Amino acid sequence: MALQLGDTAPDFQADTTEGSLDFHDWIGDGWAVLFSHPKDFTPVCTTELGEVSRRKADFEARGVKVIGLSVDGVADHKGWAQDIEDTQGVALNFPLIGDPDRKVADLYDMIHPNANDTLTVRSVFIMGPDKKIKLSITYPASTGRNFDEILRVIDSLQLTANHQVATPVNWKDGDDVIIVPALSNEEAKQKFPEGWDEQKPYLRVVKQPNK
Ligand code: BEZ
Repeated sequence: MALQLGDTAPDFQADTTEGSLDFHDWIGDGWAVLFSHPKDFTPVCTTELGEVSRRKADFEARGVKVIGLSVDGVADHKGWAQDIEDTQGVALNFPLIGDPDRKVADLYDMIHPNANDTLTVRSVFIMGPDKKIKLSITYPASTGRNFDEILRVIDSLQLTANHQVATPVNWKDGDDVIIVPALSNEEAKQKFPEGWDEQKPYLRVVKQPNK
């Protein structure tokens, strides 16, 4: 069965462009993003890896490590890294897993045979410090990811992990949020003493608590 939200992210050992690692040890006590690429030396992936390298500080500011995967070996990845630097103007600055035998790709169900039976789709898994999967998104090979959106969902995941709120449509960090329905008005008064805008009994809008 495919991995689901709340499942423990499967642990694995792998070779990467930054040496071998044990995935859970590598995650440590923080958050992590694991994202797959169909193949080395492909154009869309080249732009994505450049963008994530450019945005590394944005991930670090949130306590998030990033790691990529492609179903080629580390020697190929290192050759590709030079192309990434040449074309994207930034050096690859996070590990890229070599997975020529598709061990990790299979573990995370990253190969969708009805899309392509050898290449991975563009999977994104976000893990919390408890190593559980907090979010997964799947894109086809032909669609590059939007890493503003990945950073936006990380802001939501980290906020909602620590406060009894949910984030509404198109929310971004700093916008108002919604008090979770599980919290009674009595309980909400303790958590949000400055009050909220009750648009319906189930739709209670409040300032973002950690701002
Ligand atoms: C790409 O990364 O550009 C790509 C990979 C596989 C299929 C289509 C595009």
